[in-house]
Amino acid sequence: MSKQFDVLVIGAGPGGYIAAIRAAQLGFSVACCEFSAYDDPGEEPRLGGTCLNAGCIPLKALVASSEAYEKAVRHLPDHGITADGISIDVTKMQKRKEAIVTKMTAGVKFLFRKNKITLLKGRGSFAGKNDAGYRIIISGKDGEEEVLAQKVIVATGSKARHIPNIAVDNVAICDNEGALKFTEAPKKLGVIGAGVIGLEVGSVWRRLGAEVTILEVMPSFLGAADESISREASKLFLKQGLHIKLGVKIGQAKLTKDGVSIAYTDDQGSEHTLECDKLIVSVGRIPNTDKLNLEAVGLQTDERGYIPVNDHCATTAPGVYAIGDVVRGPMLAHKAEDEGVMVAELLAGQKPHIDYNSMPWVIYTTPEIAWVGKTEQQLRSEGRDYKTGQFPFAANGRALGLGDSEGFIKMVADAETDEILGVHIIGASASDLIAEGALAMEFRASSEDVARTCHPHPSLSEVMREAALAIDKRALNM
Ligand code: FAD
Ligand code: NAI
Repeated sequence: MSKQFDVLVIGAGPGGYIAAIRAAQLGFSVACCEFSAYDDPGEEPRLGGTCLNAGCIPLKALVASSEAYEKAVRHLPDHGITADGISIDVTKMQKRKEAIVTKMTAGVKFLFRKNKITLLKGRGSFAGKNDAGYRIIISGKDGEEEVLAQKVIVATGSKARHIPNIAVDNVAICDNEGALKFTEAPKKLGVIGAGVIGLEVGSVWRRLGAEVTILEVMPSFLGAADESISREASKLFLKQGLHIKLGVKIGQAKLTKDGVSIAYTDDQGSEHTLECDKLIVSVGRIPNTDKLNLEAVGLQTDERGYIPVNDHCATTAPGVYAIGDVVRGPMLAHKAEDEGVMVAELLAGQKPHIDYNSMPWVIYTTPEIAWVGKTEQQLRSEGRDYKTGQFPFAANGRALGLGDSEGFIKMVADAETDEILGVHIIGASASDLIAEGALAMEFRASSEDVARTCHPHPSLSEVMREAALAIDKRALNM
């Protein structure tokens, strides 16, 4: 007889594993199947999805190592510290990253055991429905088994989009998987796409000494960020030596004796060839829906490959939900997690809700970039009256002490009600500072609420308060 579960989750990334844990906490019998795109042959499936295995966590480990190296080489002398002969052992740096990944993925397995979640090792696909529930085939290394579930949560995530005439081998021409595994810093690195991965990974190898050239098809970059933030980022990245070429058209990429050569046409129509040791292709991601056999339960993807869902992540098949990168909205781990919690709580009869407008974004460059809510350009196009307050890190004592005084925080509030509509940061610890902006927006706070809240001194968070004060032109330290 087939195993039966209340809830079956397909995919154990941040969306799926969090959905499984929350559903188990709420008393459901839960299984989660994972075939793991990140398996080493013969090993158990690695849980945690893109985020833990080839995304957020390994990349941020490399960001931290490369930042520490750059600080040691370029900034220690400012503190009066002499440290001669500083070098980087990239193999050791990669081992540190791998150890963090192994610890985190093993942590998810521990959480499955703790919450009595059944791990089904294999690829899940729909086979139809009968009176006992949805029939799901799990195809694993040891063959196939069919299980039944009352409710199904599809959390199969996404994979890197590739460009037709550029064959990714993850050795010389890499997507996110190969780009995080270099065993030495390339002398010359080419990157196609000045999006989040291009900027973060490009910055890692630039800090470690690579000459990095990023080729971007659009006439500008960081289009989703507030214009003032992308302008500042462009200025700072140029100063750091990150070459970003905008408005290019990519031609053929060829493997050469020394690496890769890539042909492109610049924004004036002139043809060029970029020779590099390694090439990274980071031009977006596509949802993973192949082999799910959605048709067996009457579902199909939209024209961009996403599974259509409503505000509560419900598909049109009753009891089948989809969350995370496989559905509309930003491809972010915390978005996938929040959707996982929401669906589990819905199944338990609760009334959860996600406000996508107060979902923060972070880009882990130097300095970090983070925002929540609306940009000025969005508000202008909506015809909404707003006011802004901006304060630089250069006027903050803590930032100066840390030697991290580039950038600013800008707060945007409704001209009449003073409700905060957006917070935009480029500066040190933006990834942590933005949480205050997200909380303020979730509580529908006004800029005056933030301005009246006592902030610790000396701290970077004072820049947030000063930005709020600046909205009414009463910043105190400028
Ligand atoms: P995934 O994490 O992709 O997990 C899906 C899982 O489902 C995978 O384990 C896959 O093997 C499994 N699966 C697929 N099909 C099946 C099937 N049929 N049966 C069984 N299992 C299946 N986001 C952030 O918020 N912050 C960051 O700093 C950040 N950094 C990133 C850096 C990089 C380099 C990349 C590539 C992404 C980054 N992201 C970041 C995005 C983040 O990783 C994703 O948004 C997040 O992982 C999506 O979670 P998910 O659960 O929807 O899918
Ligand atoms: P992206 O969508 O952020 O950027 C892709 C870039 O490539 C865009 O600027 C686009 O204009 C450009 N592009 C597309 N086709 C091109 C072509 N043919 N030639 C040149 N340029 C081209 O995608 P990216 O960087 O691959 O990241 C994928 C997703 O992963 C992100 O959207 C994000 O959701 C997630 N991510 C999140 C991170 C974070 O939260 N810190 C970090 C890394 C990834």
